[in-house]
Amino acid sequence: MKQQRIVLSGIRATGRLHFGNFIGAVQKFVSYQGGDNLGMYFIADWHTLTTEKNPNAIRNNILEVAKDYLAAGLDPNQSIIYAQSSVPELMELSWYLASEQAHKQLVMIPTLKDLLKKTDGAETGPNFAMISYPVLMAADILGPQAALVPVGEDQVPNVELARDLARKFNNRFPGIFTVPEMVQDMVRIPGLDGEKMGKSDAANAVGISDSLEEIRRKYATRGVTDEKRVAATDPGDPYNRCRSVYPVHEAISSDEVAHRTIAQRCVAGAIGCRECKGILADRLAEIIGPFQERRHTLECQNDYVRDVLHEGGKRARVMVAETVAKVREAVGIELF
Ligand code: TRP
Repeated sequence: MKQQRIVLSGIRATGRLHFGNFIGAVQKFVSYQGGDNLGMYFIADWHTLTTEKNPNAIRNNILEVAKDYLAAGLDPNQSIIYAQSSVPELMELSWYLASEQAHKQLVMIPTLKDLLKKTDGAETGPNFAMISYPVLMAADILGPQAALVPVGEDQVPNVELARDLARKFNNRFPGIFTVPEMVQDMVRIPGLDGEKMGKSDAANAVGISDSLEEIRRKYATRGVTDEKRVAATDPGDPYNRCRSVYPVHEAISSDEVAHRTIAQRCVAGAIGCRECKGILADRLAEIIGPFQERRHTLECQNDYVRDVLHEGGKRARVMVAETVAKVREAVGIELF
């Protein structure tokens, strides 16, 4: 059998996915399925613990995100779908990696700075897991010997760190890790206010379970377009001044003609913002309609979803255990 290429990525289980995760990340994961690729898509529940302290939220969210994955088209027959915590060897691997990782380089990572900001003002400051977050992430990637890691822009420095660690280890122990390629092909979908889309329950988010009416209402009342435009016939600037409507048109239309047409009509003052928002809401609903149907069916299939995670966890564990056995031996640790 031809060697499969491992494509790996994960999402933290901070809540239901929003439209941005769906279009930007999960649909991309789905597009990598098939051919010679072996997808490994996981839910980073340990990483979620750095900020989520409610055990019930952790418990529920993992199933919710797994259902979102499955409804979006991740197929357990083609991809390994699992929870990070189902592979305890990752923790062990992260220790070996941490032992080669300079602390100084770690705290300079922007994602970490963001996480640290969230705990700013907290009495005890950031927790230690936040600092070691990128190292565990490197274990997630290097443990299964991933060849390709699709991520969004914000995760680039973390994947760079994983690549660095792989090279460092390979210098000492040739061939011990695959140095993963990173693909930064995920589109960023702005939230309703034009800023980064927050969790699915955040005010600026479009949830993937929102109804067409809700999506319409959200864009109609909160979508931020070119503020200099007063009348629908004023020429607009979709590229620079429209903050949350045109950029989404651009991100979701598979053919360029469709969003070009919208942009040209906006520039010409031939389409008003209200109409443009309506068209966008229709398109979003079209994209998420089939997802919502599948998601609805999965709603009451917790046993099935648990099975998927169980099987996925077992498979991932075998792969990571193989790597960890090599690393353990290489660094001089013996299991007595
Ligand atoms: N840090 C990623 C995020 O917040 C999630 C993640 C954890 C991840 N481990 C990973 C992504 C490994 C890609 C590869 O979105």
